[in-house]
Amino acid sequence: MIQVGLIGYGTVGSGVYERIHQSEELELLLGEPIEVKAILVKDRQKQRATHIPAIVTTKWEQFCEVAHYDVIFEAIGGIESAFFYSKHWLQKGVPVITANKKLVAEKGKELEEVACKQQTYYGYEASVGGGIPIINALKGTLSATSISRVSGILNGTTNYVLTEMTEHNRFLAEALTDAREKGYTESNPSEDLDGYDSWYKIRILSRLCFGEWPNGLQLIRKGISELEDWHVEVGEKFGFTIKLIGEAWKQGDSIVGGVYPAFLCQSEQLTYVNGVTNGISIEGDQIDQLLFIGPGAGKDATANSMIEDFLFHNRFGSWQRSYSSSSLVEHPYTHMLVCV
Ligand code: NAP
Ligand code: HSE
Repeated sequence: MIQVGLIGYGTVGSGVYERIHQSEELELLLGEPIEVKAILVKDRQKQRATHIPAIVTTKWEQFCEVAHYDVIFEAIGGIESAFFYSKHWLQKGVPVITANKKLVAEKGKELEEVACKQQTYYGYEASVGGGIPIINALKGTLSATSISRVSGILNGTTNYVLTEMTEHNRFLAEALTDAREKGYTESNPSEDLDGYDSWYKIRILSRLCFGEWPNGLQLIRKGISELEDWHVEVGEKFGFTIKLIGEAWKQGDSIVGGVYPAFLCQSEQLTYVNGVTNGISIEGDQIDQLLFIGPGAGKDATANSMIEDFLFHNRFGSWQRSYSSSSLVEHPYTHMLVCV
C-alpha cells in the first residue's frame, strides 16, 4: 500500500485526492493500492465534504503521526510553511510532489539539494504550464537536447482575461471574477496580474533549460496591470495581439529575459493560444522549435500533472539533463514589448 500525505485541499489538492480515489488505474500502474491517509489544511472553521475518509487536520503534529508516508503532495501556495513542510519530508527521504511555483522558484535550489542528498525526489511538474508535461519532457525525452531559448504564455488567468477582454469585449474585473470562480487564479490575484506567477515559471524553466537557477533580479517582470487602453487600441489598429510573454535565453554567463506584455503579429503561433491555455516554445540547434500547448491552470489538469510526476519518478527515478552549449541567440527579444 502506497501511503499518501496531502498538504492542501483547495482547487489542486482536492483534484489530487479525487484522481487517487476515483479510479483503479493508478493501483494497476503501481502494482499496489494507493491511499491518501491524511490531509493537512489551514482553516479549522471551513466546511469540508463529509465523505473524505482520510484524516483532515489543521495540526502539523497530528498529520505527521498518521502514517509512514511514501509520498507527500504539496498544494498550498506561499513560501514559509510550504518550505518547512517540504524540507521536513525530503530530509526524511520521502518524495515531495508540488504545484507551488513560488516556492520552487525561490527555494527550489535548496530543496533539490536536500532531495539529492537524501536520494529522494522533489517533483515540480505541475508548477509550470498546469497540465502541460514540460518539466519531465525537459528532464527526460529532451535531456540531451541543447536549448538556446525558452518562451511562451505561462499564465492561464491573464491569458483568459486578455482573451475575454479582446474577443468578447468583457471588462477586466468581470473576466477576473470568472477566472477566480473557475479556480485559475492565485489566492492573491496580483500574483497573476503583476506578472509574478509567470516570472516564477520562467525562472523554473530557465533552470531546466540552462542548468542553473537564475537570479530573479536578472529577469524583468511586468504584468498586464501595466497595460493602458491606448496599448490595446494601438494593437488593434495595427493588427497585433497583446499577450503576457515570458522568455529567457543565455547571454554570456547570464540568463536574461523576463516577463512582459508584448505585441504579437498574426504570423506568431502564440497569437492563437487563447483562454486559460498556455503555450511554451523551446528552441535549440537540433530541434529548431518545439511548441507545447495545453491547459495552463485548473483542477483536473494540474492534479493530473502531479500524479504523472509521481508515476514518472516511480518509473524512471530522478533524471538530470545534460547542459551542452547551444548556439548564440541572434535576436534577443523576439517580441515587441508593450511597456518597458
Ligand atoms: P487554494 O484553492 O487556495 O487551496 C489552498 C489549500 O492550501 C487550502 O486547502 C488551504 O487550507 C491550504 N493551506 C494554505 N496554507 C496552508 C498552511 N499553512 N498549512 C496547511 N494548509 C494550508 O489554492 P490552489 O489553487 O489549490 O493552489 C495551490 C497551489 O497550486 C499554489 O501553489 C498554486 O500556485 C498552485 N497551482 C494552482 C493551479 C490552479 O489552477 N489553481 C495550477 C497550478 C499550480 P484551507 O482549505 O483550510 O483554506
Ligand atoms: N494562477 C496560475 C495561472 C495557476 O493562472 O496560470 C496555474 O499555475
